[in-house]
Amino acid sequence: MLVTSKELTAPARARGYAVGAFNAVNMESAQAIFRAAEETRSPFIIQITQTTLAYTDPEELFALIVALGKKATIPFAIHLDHGRSFEVCMRFLRLGVTSLMIDGSLQEDGKSPRSYQENIDITRRVSAAAHAMGVTVEGEIGRLGQVTTEKEAAEHLTTPEEAVRFLRDTDVDMMALAIGTTHGLFKGRPRIAHDRIEQIAAQAPIPLVMHGGTGVPDEDVRKAVSLGIAKINIDTQIRVAFYDAVIERVHAVEKEFAETDAAGGVRKYDVRKILAPSRDSMQKAVMDRMVVFGSAGKA
Ligand code: G3H
Ligand code: ZN
Repeated sequence: MLVTSKELTAPARARGYAVGAFNAVNMESAQAIFRAAEETRSPFIIQITQTTLAYTDPEELFALIVALGKKATIPFAIHLDHGRSFEVCMRFLRLGVTSLMIDGSLQEDGKSPRSYQENIDITRRVSAAAHAMGVTVEGEIGRLGQVTTEKEAAEHLTTPEEAVRFLRDTDVDMMALAIGTTHGLFKGRPRIAHDRIEQIAAQAPIPLVMHGGTGVPDEDVRKAVSLGIAKINIDTQIRVAFYDAVIERVHAVEKEFAETDAAGGVRKYDVRKILAPSRDSMQKAVMDRMVVFGSAGKA
């Protein structure tokens, strides 16, 4: 049941839960996401981020996701995460994504900020093409990152004025905000700007997006969702689950090999014995988020 993100996140915003958007990079992570959704009966978004292009041809990953989707009994969307150029967004549109993010907040290098006007220009251009194909568009306003001081908060967080202006100047369906989250792990406990979410949500009736969902304490997640966050991106938490399981398995394999060698036996190599537990571990991590986001049981 492949649908657009808007079809998943609009009811989520209206009913007070959030849809998880989970990054897939290979077969195991994609399977883990689909399995987690089936098990918790949770609508979900599976996403491929632009930087994955350096790792694999998105066509291969996309075909795999479509194959998994054919068996799915849960509604889901396939989303391009952090598309940074018009060309990349068009490439994913041609592939058949039902949702995409044009991240106009940063230049193509993913580091240098774009001016407000540049952000508006590229967001509008991508939106026009995507909307012509019935595809949901997510835009971003503000500078994502952990804030530890009032000064940083004043400099980086999305203001209600910026959000309203961005909505007026573009026609995005979902809006990603800088609300104190960051990509990757936080240093210490994050300060989530709930007041900003509340102020923005009061003036922006569309689904609001939290990037950098990994490591946000559950109570902060629940509060943010109750205020209007309707899509939450999770990538690092899946990577951590993968790493933890692989490291554990590799240590176990080393031990097995040492015992086999000592007994004069022949080592057996089977990568599936490393990858299957890592897939289970990723599935658990995704299920855990689906429950906290309140999307479990909504499919
Ligand atoms: O776009 C992807 C996300 O914002 C993921 O953030 O790696 O901190 O979970 P995360
Ligand atoms: Zn992100």
